[in-house]
Amino acid sequence: MPETTPKGLTRLAFGGDYNPEQWPESVWQEDVRLMREAGVSMVSVGIFSWALLEPAPGAYDFGWLDRLLDLLHANGVRVDLGTPTVVPPVWFYREHPEALPVTADGTRYEFGSRGAICHSNADYRAAAARITTELARRYGDHPALAMWHVHNEYGVPVSACYCDSCAAHFRRWLADAYGTVDAVNEAWGTAFWGQRYTGLEQINPPRVTPTAGNPAQALDYKRFADATIRENFVAERDILHRLSPGVPVTTNFMTALSQCDSLDYWAWGREVDLVTNDHYLITDGRRTHVNLAMAADLTRSVAGGAPWLLLEHSTSGVNWQARNPAKAPGQMARNSLAHVARGSEGAMFFQWRQSRRGAEKFHSAMVPHGGTDTRVWREVVELGASLGALHEIRGTRTRPDVAVLWDWHSWWAQNLEWRPSEDHDARERADSFYEALYDRHLTVDFAHPEADLSAYPLVVVPALYLMTEAAGRNLRTYVENGGTLLVSYFSGIVDEHDAVHEGAHPGALRDVLGLTVEEFSPLLEGESVRVTGPGGVPDLAADVWTEFVVPRGAETVWSYADGLTAGRPAVTRHRLGEGTAWYVSTRLAADGLDAVLARAAEDAGLPPRTGLPRDVEVVLRTGESGTYLFALNHTGTDAEVPLETPGTELLTGERAAGGVEVPAGAVRVVRLDG
Ligand code: GAL
Repeated sequence: MPETTPKGLTRLAFGGDYNPEQWPESVWQEDVRLMREAGVSMVSVGIFSWALLEPAPGAYDFGWLDRLLDLLHANGVRVDLGTPTVVPPVWFYREHPEALPVTADGTRYEFGSRGAICHSNADYRAAAARITTELARRYGDHPALAMWHVHNEYGVPVSACYCDSCAAHFRRWLADAYGTVDAVNEAWGTAFWGQRYTGLEQINPPRVTPTAGNPAQALDYKRFADATIRENFVAERDILHRLSPGVPVTTNFMTALSQCDSLDYWAWGREVDLVTNDHYLITDGRRTHVNLAMAADLTRSVAGGAPWLLLEHSTSGVNWQARNPAKAPGQMARNSLAHVARGSEGAMFFQWRQSRRGAEKFHSAMVPHGGTDTRVWREVVELGASLGALHEIRGTRTRPDVAVLWDWHSWWAQNLEWRPSEDHDARERADSFYEALYDRHLTVDFAHPEADLSAYPLVVVPALYLMTEAAGRNLRTYVENGGTLLVSYFSGIVDEHDAVHEGAHPGALRDVLGLTVEEFSPLLEGESVRVTGPGGVPDLAADVWTEFVVPRGAETVWSYADGLTAGRPAVTRHRLGEGTAWYVSTRLAADGLDAVLARAAEDAGLPPRTGLPRDVEVVLRTGESGTYLFALNHTGTDAEVPLETPGTELLTGERAAGGVEVPAGAVRVVRLDG
């Protein structure tokens, strides 16, 4: 069994990407002195260093990296060592121009940035294997080495290449997946619009077409691109396992759905030894701490509930959004500890020392341009101390309350062309349902639709358009055995080939929901409807989507009050076996979702969490060393978080009983007695 925790790391991970090749070696001495001052325990090194390590084909220069690793080791800093395969040197591209990826409209990218890789290119694969082998041989048992960091953020900035080499690779992938061209024709429905193929060699990637292309082909291409990239991770990982046994291998994910949408992290989570994630706040006006919590929960879920590690976030502003605000005082620590609450074994950053040159010189860092007499540096040092005080939580696990179903394949399918409404966005529904659960102070596990759900009293399904028959059966069993299910509209519509399930919608869920949907009736832009509920409950507002729902066993709880579907069921409840299945056939705003959720939570026997103000986040981590209550106050007002059990607050060392005071913007972590 491969190792799953960074080798030799005895503290929570704290540090960042360290790119010292930007600085003369005299600066390295200051770097390690400051690392010690801040309590840095691990840094990520060498991620973009291929051009320096192999300046000419087969000619290696490891001297500087030898000196760097020795220096870090001498200063007690563990090393997460990168394989630099995200940016091959220019000589490689000049020898192999076809390793540069091609877009769907035929443009070939040029060298000069990073991540320009055609993952099916045989020369790239061979060169990546060679440099990985050299690094593993040289550093595989270096005393500083804690883990291997393969590549960087697979899937971005290029998620798929459409070149001829990929076309050939795609045909091989299709042959493996389907066997024959007839099976491909059947799965893709090529009988429609005259798209029938008579040989696999006729099939190309879904390049630019005059109007909508074949959706099943596009969906399979996403699967193929994901699988092809994963092949390259697995190839490097296997080299590292062989030549550097006992050292865990990871690659940094970007589970935030807005940051990488092209990898099926359920599949990736099975391939890495330790799940690591990068997370950056998207400042689009929404509550960034909710988006952060969602990404952290998704990361933990991809790790199967096991501890994971936040490998990158920012000390303050980033530099790749249209507007890049600085973080407020205290926000960096709150962000860091929010990840830790949800399972991260530390908090790492991009990057250690802020660049003076290059594309990321305006991106914040742990050591800013202004040096150590700065707010950011003081907060970095403070965070190092806080993480030091929390060392005993290592290995504990975040305790979930409910599950939300998530499947990248469904998301890909739903985002294909020509859907009933461009205003419907699966991601928006996932965010909104998550936010409604967050506001009820429920901790969310994400689950694959075919996973065992029996541990969760409530399972929420936000617009899971693609659902296999097996997933439908899984949800039925879950409800029959006593679970409570809450399903959004446009779920269970198509199978894995984007083919509508036979019979009335929603084919995979008709039985469990006790209804059929005769027709979708999306609303026009700006249009809304009212939905009337049980006596005394105020009407709810809804927009984007309505449906003609026909109950077939389900009871109507809210009905449409106006619009084309007036008088028809809008929200239904179906008792099945020992459990209950709710269906929401329209896009409810936050108050509506909360009203329905309150009813579903009641069915699930989940008591409301009273006494917790909005935006005061409470999460539990539990394990052999104890149970820890994290309370994060994202508001500008001091808050009191009730405690059922007294305990010791680890950041202040104070005892807490009955409740713990959490100052505005602050975090408290209480080890509960017992
Ligand atoms: C990440 C990347 C880092 C750095 C960072 C800046 O996506 O892995 O190398 O570019 O973004 O936010």
